[in-house]
Amino acid sequence: MQTRRPLIAGNWKMFKTGAEAERTALELVELIGPAPGPEVMLAPPFTALSAVNEAIAGSPVTLGAQNMHWESRGAFTGEISPDMLHAAGCRYVLIGHSERRQLFAETDETVNRKIKAALTTGLAPVFCVGETESQRRADQTFPVLDKQVADGLQGLDSGVLNRLVIAYEPVWAIGTGLAATADQAQEVHRYLRKWITDNLGTALADQIRILYGGSVKPANVAELMAQPDIDGALVGGASLEAQSFAQLVAYR
Ligand code: PGA
Repeated sequence: MQTRRPLIAGNWKMFKTGAEAERTALELVELIGPAPGPEVMLAPPFTALSAVNEAIAGSPVTLGAQNMHWESRGAFTGEISPDMLHAAGCRYVLIGHSERRQLFAETDETVNRKIKAALTTGLAPVFCVGETESQRRADQTFPVLDKQVADGLQGLDSGVLNRLVIAYEPVWAIGTGLAATADQAQEVHRYLRKWITDNLGTALADQIRILYGGSVKPANVAELMAQPDIDGALVGGASLEAQSFAQLVAYR
């Protein structure tokens, strides 16, 4: 079995101007030093990508975006293309975050198109999946995830999927302060890894990183990261301050 390098990713959502993002990124680079154990990624708003890209230059921190369109150019007012993100220095892009699915009508089908476009463009998609509270209460967690993963990855050749990252983010845990317990998260991560084994093969199951997201904080990160199938964290609130994000990066 190969070892997967953990990834600690910060999703800044619709927070921070360019100047604010630059300040936080510079502070973070200082705090984590030249050789943090895990890989570190920041996903600022589009308008701060350039400032953050400069702030992290020469550091181990990598850049990501929070969303994109699937076409590479065209008459799509208000949209940003994968090629533009790549040229702006992004290595990663979040796809299908639950806020985009719930508030901006993203579907498994648009998520699928975006994942394909990201992979074609040389970006690593961070493909977000997760059940709502009522789905969990109705014992629908696994069927919901089956559909999200199968539809999101439909038609993708396993040969291009080695850059894929999956983020399991239970909707009920996002921004609520109520994280999944390490056992609850591990149960789902094990299930997702088994899905990958069954549908895409053992090599990819060993390789693909599965992040947990939803109220990850300095106080719970170590226990989550100790689980065998949790390969990192996608962090909203606790990534906004450099101090707390640096504590997450130093989870060991
Ligand atoms: P949170 O957000 O850490 O604030 O719960 C996680 C996310 O939305 O990715």
